[in-house]
Amino acid sequence: MVVKIEKLDHFGRGIAYINDKICFIDNALKDEIVEIKITKDHKKYCIGKVEYYIELSKERVNSDCNIFNECGGCNLRHLNYIEELYYKKEKLKELIKKYTNIDSSIIEDTKSFINDSYRNKAIFHVQNRKLGFYKKKTNEVIELSSCPLLKEELNNKIPLLKKLIENEKNNISEIMIRTNDLSKNKDDFMISIDGIVEDIEAIKNEIGVIYVNDKCVSNNSKLISKIGNKSFYLSKNSFFQVNSFVVDKLYDEVLNFCKEKKPKKALDLYCGTGTIGIYISDYAEEVLGIDCVKSSINDANENKKLNNCKNITFICNKVENEIDKLKGNYDLIVVDPPRAGLDKKTLMYLEKINSKYIIYISCDPVTLSRDLNELNKIYNVISIKPFNMFPRTYHVETITILERK
Ligand SMILES: C[S@@+](CC[C@H](N)C(=O)[O-])C[C@H]1O[C@@H](n2cnc3c(N)ncnc32)[C@H](O)[C@@H]1O
Repeated sequence: MVVKIEKLDHFGRGIAYINDKICFIDNALKDEIVEIKITKDHKKYCIGKVEYYIELSKERVNSDCNIFNECGGCNLRHLNYIEELYYKKEKLKELIKKYTNIDSSIIEDTKSFINDSYRNKAIFHVQNRKLGFYKKKTNEVIELSSCPLLKEELNNKIPLLKKLIENEKNNISEIMIRTNDLSKNKDDFMISIDGIVEDIEAIKNEIGVIYVNDKCVSNNSKLISKIGNKSFYLSKNSFFQVNSFVVDKLYDEVLNFCKEKKPKKALDLYCGTGTIGIYISDYAEEVLGIDCVKSSINDANENKKLNNCKNITFICNKVENEIDKLKGNYDLIVVDPPRAGLDKKTLMYLEKINSKYIIYISCDPVTLSRDLNELNKIYNVISIKPFNMFPRTYHVETITILERK
């Protein structure tokens, strides 16, 4: 049937209505007229697949990736970049309006730092000695020779990975590859290989940090990455922001705030390898970081030494299990939770504690809006800034500053 696309949903899919039933359609943009086939028909919604484009949007661009339609990694490769920025701001606006009474006009334009090939980490799957990503919503590998989201230096390593996979002595199931901000020498690259791995000669001169089935088999076990004037160790299992080009811009928002407000005591909740706490530590008297992943906290403690940072302490525990034990007042609390957002106990604590400011860094506008609705009872939201941390995908990173009422 032929439908007109009304708008994009929060996952970058086109929305059309068929007899009042909502239909989600991949690779279809607002105002396009498309002929579709219904691939799934549920009671309340259906899924359609474009068979033929009758009228194209003027915002459509060529997707410059030959597996865009099958791979789930990018969702907006077919939309021009200016519209992508606008889409992200509007999506945030819609959710803030839906879940809160906060004045959505304070949401700033999406901050953009043009660099399309930004990812410093990829996890490849291997099937029948073919390397690639899983096809959307399946466990079937689509083979690839490069990915436009990856840093060029990671793409340049793919032929090496293929050599490893094609080597008859190996039977590899998965490869994680990661790099730092520099991506120059072999010690700027980390690889973790799973499966039967007997021969890794092909990569030894090219990759400095090598793990095989979770065991480090190289002299170095960590990468070292620079953000601003600070350096950070990074182990295999520790969280690190995937876009090295934007991370300093994001952290600078927190840093500039600290330079201005000069907090005495600051909390860095969900601190990962201690990056934000250490980044701001020159402008706070005392910082406490909490994260539940042991390797991240081990890295955080090493990072503290590496940056000669004496006023920061780290605790390894779940935020919700630790938060009640915290004594004293904090002038600034930075929270950077995973997509699930803040749990009820943490929200209750943030409402109870006498902190002057909260900076909420979020990678999911749905949970951000839900949590801001709670926090807004006690705190005024003074700024909301979306960042294009994940270009070409529907994901949007947001930094929100709140001040106690
Ligand atoms: C989005 S990352 C942010 C890390 C860090 N702020 C950064 O910029 O690199 C979220 C972090 O939350 C941690 N985490 C997830 N659930 C947690 C919990 N319940 N308690 C403490 N840490 C948690 C993860 O280990 C991860 O390091």
